[in-house]
Amino acid sequence: MATLTNISDHILDICENAAYAKSSNCKLEIYEDEENFEFIVEDDGKGMDDETKNLALDPFFTTKKERVKKIGFGLPFLKYSSEITGGYFKIDSKKDKGTTIKCKFKKNHIDCQPIGDLGSTIFSVIYLNNDVDWVIKRCYKDNEYNLNTKNLKKFIDDLNKISIMKEIKELIISLENKIREDI
Ligand SMILES: Nc1ncnc2c1ncn2[C@@H]1O[C@H](COP(=O)(O)OP(=O)(O)OP(=O)(O)O)[C@@H](O)[C@H]1O
Ligand SMILES: [Mg+2]
Repeated sequence: MATLTNISDHILDICENAAYAKSSNCKLEIYEDEENFEFIVEDDGKGMDDETKNLALDPFFTTKKERVKKIGFGLPFLKYSSEITGGYFKIDSKKDKGTTIKCKFKKNHIDCQPIGDLGSTIFSVIYLNNDVDWVIKRCYKDNEYNLNTKNLKKFIDDLNKISIMKEIKELIISLENKIREDI
């Protein structure tokens, strides 16, 4: 688990859950304006029944096998961190169908965590699990950019080649800089 000191860490943590839930296709959407920071992570993976969904919000619940200490902080900490700002946290999950996490932070609240390095986070999300494709939509006010790993794979043989990874990282950082330019 990341240290979760900023919102980008939360995004990575929730995307990690999605990417390792036996999913094939995942979606990350980020909507930001001056007041709000909202993100949605959707997967088509193993999902959770109602009991597991409730347990998942308990910091002492995890299904991670490698854990020595049985704690899973990702979801409960995101719920706490978003709700404390006056935003919200929603989890919708169906066993064998998938999971959607939706949350909003009110950026101007004194307890709102900083956004962190969103460009590096989006880059990391793409590379979490080679077996999972991502559709990513990032909006800042009226500007947006989109990334789709299935489309990238149509044009690029090997996304994992170091030189390609470097280019993708640079692309995301420039898109991230550009989206905030006209403001
Ligand atoms: N997208 C998902 N699909 C299916 N199960 C999920 C999903 N997200 C979370 N879970 C279940 O909820 C549990 C708790 O998730 P949480 O992110 O809080 O902790 P963790 O992933 O186990 O550990 P950590 O995030 O601290 O590394 C997971 O172990 C898993 O069983
Ligand atoms: Mg987690």
